[in-house]
Amino acid sequence: MENKRENWGSRIGFIMAAAGSAVGLGNIWRFPYLAGENGGGAFIVIYLMFVVFIGFSIMLAEFTVGRKTGLAAVGAYKKINRSFTFAGVLGVLSAFFIMGFYPVVGGWATAYILKSFTGLLSDPAAIGDMFGAFIGNPVEPLIWMAIFLAINIVIVAKGISGGIEKAGKILMPTLFVLLILIAIRSVTLPGAGAGLDFLFKPDWSVVNGGTFLAALGQAFFSLSLGMGCMITYGSYLSKSENLPSSALTVSLMDTSVALLAGVAIFPALFAFGMEPAAGPGLVFVVVPQIFAQMGGLGPIFSAIFFIALMVAALTSSVSLLEVVVAYLMDERGWARKKSVYLSGAIMVVTGILSSLSLGVMSGFTLFGVGAFDFFDILTDKIFLAIGGLILAVFVGWFMDKNELKEEMTNGGAIKFGLFEFWYALVKFVIPIAIAIVAFFGITGIAQTSLMLFGLAVIAVLAIFSKKL
Ligand code: PHE
Repeated sequence: MENKRENWGSRIGFIMAAAGSAVGLGNIWRFPYLAGENGGGAFIVIYLMFVVFIGFSIMLAEFTVGRKTGLAAVGAYKKINRSFTFAGVLGVLSAFFIMGFYPVVGGWATAYILKSFTGLLSDPAAIGDMFGAFIGNPVEPLIWMAIFLAINIVIVAKGISGGIEKAGKILMPTLFVLLILIAIRSVTLPGAGAGLDFLFKPDWSVVNGGTFLAALGQAFFSLSLGMGCMITYGSYLSKSENLPSSALTVSLMDTSVALLAGVAIFPALFAFGMEPAAGPGLVFVVVPQIFAQMGGLGPIFSAIFFIALMVAALTSSVSLLEVVVAYLMDERGWARKKSVYLSGAIMVVTGILSSLSLGVMSGFTLFGVGAFDFFDILTDKIFLAIGGLILAVFVGWFMDKNELKEEMTNGGAIKFGLFEFWYALVKFVIPIAIAIVAFFGITGIAQTSLMLFGLAVIAVLAIFSKKL
């Protein structure tokens, strides 16, 4: 059965696709605004710690489980231990919920490609208000969300190596180069130094439990972990690939893009005299202002930036859709096209709800938050981290240590000197660390009730695990 599974066209193809999944709105849209809201440098230090000690290990664990079983998330758990099938299903649910808000932001990026030419840059002082008016509009962002989602559906319907791989290979490097250019422009603006201080001189007085949970959730979100995505991608990986070095490469790429986005945004933000805690509009407000000062070439650069951002978002969202689709195909026996169209259709509805929750439907709340925040908080602050905790417990306590080592070293063909360290992290340190951060990091009534709701969902799934 394993032989029939599609494989990645090449090693670089896999790295690019996995990095494509990791690098996305999480790095360029989310990371800067979370860092801004959580005090800058201190958040970044905590984030980096989580990436090194938790993210990398979990990614390696996911690749290993995926390749060992040759199955997507649900099938992989099920094959090893039926009591854990629920963890795979939880991942599918997370993917589905992330797709409840991700296409909305992907749609904003898509819209800004066109807007670059239609007056976005003409009045720098109005860029912030324009963003607010745009996302609150009851119709316009819905159209762009639908366009973004439609592109996803077309790519995933074509199948994994045809669509996903090609898109990633060409446009990821473009994004990287562009971010470097923007970062150079940003740090050379007068007054940029304050932004670099904000990023790299941690102010520990602003840190609390919430900072830790925000950083942990962001690490999982940004590295595409805790929901089976990297298990699914790993399942397409050939037996000769080096898993530890693949996980290292992908984590490094993801982290460097996030830091680069920070360096691109904060110096400019301080140079323009803006507030770092401006929230989700940050990248859509700061970056156009940089381009607005460039004169004639501004619109062209701005358009290229938003094309690259849209594509980065796409290579991530297709991986999310693929998790749902792989589940329907592998576990429910559906055809690829049927799986894609049906799940895509439901995502249109959740996307509409999310988008409208930022405008006309802002009064309509669930657990005290609108649809957009509901999907966002539930996945990023709850499901992903707890999904990671469950995976760590599963790998550490329910899988055979020798088999893990065997898989990770390709049967002894390659060396992985840190195996024992990795194993201790996954078995003991990570589950405890996540539990502590999740417990002390939840703040406020809305988040607490969402956490209770999330835990209830997980408990129900776990009870019925063997039936899933
Ligand atoms: N890592 C992606 C990003 O940073 C989002 C994502 C999360 C993709 C989980 C897949 C799984 O934008």
